[in-house]
Amino acid sequence: MIFGRVKPIDAILATAEKKSLHRSLGALQLTLFGIGCVIGTGIFVLTSAGAQKAGPGLMLAFAIAGAICIVAALCYAEIAAMLPVAGSAYTYTYSVMGEILAWSVGWALVLEYAVAASAVSVGWSGYFSGTILNEFLGIQLPAYLAAGPLAFGGAPGGFINLPAVVIALLVTWLLMIGTTESARVNAVLVAIKVTALTAFIVLTLPQVEMEKFNPFLPAGVFGGLGSGIGAVGAAATIFFAYVGFDAVSTAAEETRNPQKNVPIGLIGSLLFCTIFYILVAAGAVGTIGGQPIMGPNGIPFPAGSAELARQCAMPEYSGMLVCSNEALAHVLRQIGFSGVGNMLGIAAFVALPSVILILLFGQTRIFFVMSRDGLLPEGLSKIHPKWKTPYVVTAITGSVVAFAAAFLPVGQLADIANAGTLYAFFMVALAVMLLRKSEPNRPRPFRTPALWLVGPLTMAGCVFLFINLPFEAMIVLPSWAIIGFMIYFAYGYRKSHLGQGRVEVHESDLEQNAPIHD
Ligand code: ALA
Repeated sequence: MIFGRVKPIDAILATAEKKSLHRSLGALQLTLFGIGCVIGTGIFVLTSAGAQKAGPGLMLAFAIAGAICIVAALCYAEIAAMLPVAGSAYTYTYSVMGEILAWSVGWALVLEYAVAASAVSVGWSGYFSGTILNEFLGIQLPAYLAAGPLAFGGAPGGFINLPAVVIALLVTWLLMIGTTESARVNAVLVAIKVTALTAFIVLTLPQVEMEKFNPFLPAGVFGGLGSGIGAVGAAATIFFAYVGFDAVSTAAEETRNPQKNVPIGLIGSLLFCTIFYILVAAGAVGTIGGQPIMGPNGIPFPAGSAELARQCAMPEYSGMLVCSNEALAHVLRQIGFSGVGNMLGIAAFVALPSVILILLFGQTRIFFVMSRDGLLPEGLSKIHPKWKTPYVVTAITGSVVAFAAAFLPVGQLADIANAGTLYAFFMVALAVMLLRKSEPNRPRPFRTPALWLVGPLTMAGCVFLFINLPFEAMIVLPSWAIIGFMIYFAYGYRKSHLGQGRVEVHESDLEQNAPIHD
């Protein structure tokens, strides 16, 4: 019976206990880590795509996506504090719903982490080309090196997004040689990002004109299933701005008193970001306006589409929020704060690579655990003798991330990443509820309040956002799952250690630290 391969929770916990990482992180560091993972391309770049989908309703979109992430985080907090082990949603599913579903979650997490890393690389590229090259050095990168081809929704004349490729490969190399982030470096980067966003809010809010919010919902609340527009379509896209908070659970093993601090870190960082994002969206839309560019039928052109890119290439549209590759810096420049806009551009340039690092790290960690379980070839988790890192899986993942970043636009990558993430969140909420039934007496250091409300709300919220993604992004998840199941039945099903009757307790996950450490 293929659903019968359930990994015993005691074996998972024994692995966690054997792990000797020093428990050094406290609630504040964990919250800062959460903010460090979360604030990135979503707010700095996708604000444009969100406005193209929803207009000023983008503010509502941030609130909807934030609310769904907060209920999801409440579920994550229970299971992460109960099973503070590597592998996150994959491991949780393995222990509750069995191997085949765990495989499907692990496989979907590739979309969350690897594709999200590509999206952040492309987001970074916008700020690198716009602020560093253009504003500071006066260099205009040729169109064919600055974006993917128009056929894929890139820019007219685009062929390859070279800066995105370079940053993805650079971060891959840093990870291969063993770079992780110290809590102190993370705190500095968070301070830079939060300062940039605070400056944005302080400078824009006093200049807000109420008429800029009118019409508030030019594409309605529901744009239609699979259309990816309207306030909920925008929520499905800018959900990306919250992706990564679950990485906090990957640091659970290095947290003092994880029972208390993991929930604080997860929920605290999300609440903080939700409030900031809504204020930033208000400042952006309320100053330079954020109405979408409408197609001939009165429906916004799809964000990231070739049609929109063509419109944006026309002089009359070039100054619009929805056309900018560096949304927030662009707003500040338009309202007369060019210097601060450039500083914000530098902040994004400096801080976004650490988001790529954390996402790529998360990906290698999940592959590592899957290959340790026998579901992927063991060669993948080979550790480098000197660097002490899983260099094979890091190099392969990084190359794929760079490839996707080379050709695809940021909005489409984000939508694909969201599809995988929503599936994982759905499964985590389900796992938490099933565990309450199957293991009611197991100690739960943190109990999700009102789980029978919060759990179904999380699952419904995930389905709701998923069906409001653009159809092309939605279809990626089942297609990806089919490929995954083919690989599972060709390989993992036979090679699985659990399937072979081996229940293992590992000494330690890796020599390398979690993505953040003291
Ligand atoms: N939430 C992260 C970002 O917006 C992935 O870049």
